[in-house]
Amino acid sequence: MKAFISAGRRRLALSAAAAVMAGSMLTACGGGAATQNNGPAVDPAAGKDASGSINVCGGKDASGIYKGTAEAFTKANGKVTAKYTEIGATTDEARTQAVQRLEGKSDECDIFLTDVIWTSEFASQGWLVDQSKLVEANKDRLIPSTVETTKYEDKYWASPFFTNAGLIYYQKDKVAKPETWQQLYAEAAKAPGNSFVYQGKQYEGLTVNFLEMLYSAGGEVLDSNGEVKIDSPQTREVLDFMVKGLKDGSADRAVLTYNEDPARLAYESGEDGYQRNWPHVYRLLNESALKGTFGVAPLPTWEGGKASGVLGGWNLAISAHSKNQAGAVAFIDFATTPEWQKHVAMDFSQAPVNEAAYSDPVVLAKMPFAKELLASVKGAKPRPISPVYPQISQAVYKNVYAVLSGTASTEDAVKNMAEEITAAKKSF
Ligand code: GLC
Repeated sequence: MKAFISAGRRRLALSAAAAVMAGSMLTACGGGAATQNNGPAVDPAAGKDASGSINVCGGKDASGIYKGTAEAFTKANGKVTAKYTEIGATTDEARTQAVQRLEGKSDECDIFLTDVIWTSEFASQGWLVDQSKLVEANKDRLIPSTVETTKYEDKYWASPFFTNAGLIYYQKDKVAKPETWQQLYAEAAKAPGNSFVYQGKQYEGLTVNFLEMLYSAGGEVLDSNGEVKIDSPQTREVLDFMVKGLKDGSADRAVLTYNEDPARLAYESGEDGYQRNWPHVYRLLNESALKGTFGVAPLPTWEGGKASGVLGGWNLAISAHSKNQAGAVAFIDFATTPEWQKHVAMDFSQAPVNEAAYSDPVVLAKMPFAKELLASVKGAKPRPISPVYPQISQAVYKNVYAVLSGTASTEDAVKNMAEEITAAKKSF
């Protein structure tokens, strides 16, 4: 009975997702039934006898970590060859591409790099191999919040690879290290060369940028019971604040076209004061003309609010259609070892999931802000956890963007957000 109900819910969620994405009002009516994978958890020892090749698929490899890990693994393993295939420039594009392959039962990708926000959706569709035993075996050395991001209905569906928390990069000779968002925006408005660069394009990154302020201002999307709480004074306050920032020159309107990499490239021109981005940007800025000119700070707090961030990160999930699951396990074993987790920080300036790495002297030499980064990761809040998260997030970024670009009032956008999130939740 339970299996029957959950299969029905899966179908409903999938077709509802398609309807929302297409902007259509069609009622969910089957189609896209889940490809079931309720098999046993993969054996943690499976990697030992692995051979052949595996293909790891994921988003843009801005830090080089995906290709770098595949190459290092191939060299170290000797029996299994790994290659990396880039399937999308942003997390949204990578998700669409992954979903297409998984729905079509393609065996092209053995491992998908999965954004922390995809676990519930992918696991509920039966697209992933159960990694519970593998995660249990490694759990002791992992930061607990990273393990939580791989969980759906009491099983672990991926292994944490690297975690993420937003940071502020600031030009030390032009602007002050920010303590509050209000101070950052005020300082940024003082001169065009002080301005703030962030990710304001219509996509997942805008949801993150908005929620970083909202959480810190004391607002939320859903409460601990899953009730929709987005229609709040805090949501209005943050939206009005962001709009004002675009009007008074705290941020240039070009931010409305930026995802992570364009934001970084714009900042590298040296014509801005502040940039919000992820830790991997540290290494890239150090290789640019800005080397030595910038500082790294944790995200500011909202005036009168508390420090908060949004937990990001990427996990390694084995496709239910992989023809080389043992090879995939060998890759995961390698990528999550304490030794390779140091390289995650040292070579790629990404945030390790292994806590000990943050206090290792060799890591600190390459990543001097490791201690602050660990504090940011530990203080970051997850985004809503739901199999219909993509629709919830779309309701956020679409309406935030409408306000920022001047096509909707704050009031209308807040009402729409609340209605669309409520509808998304009802569809599952
Ligand atoms: C980073 C984060 C990821 C987030 C994305 C938004 O890749 O690790 O969790 O969804 O940025 O653009």
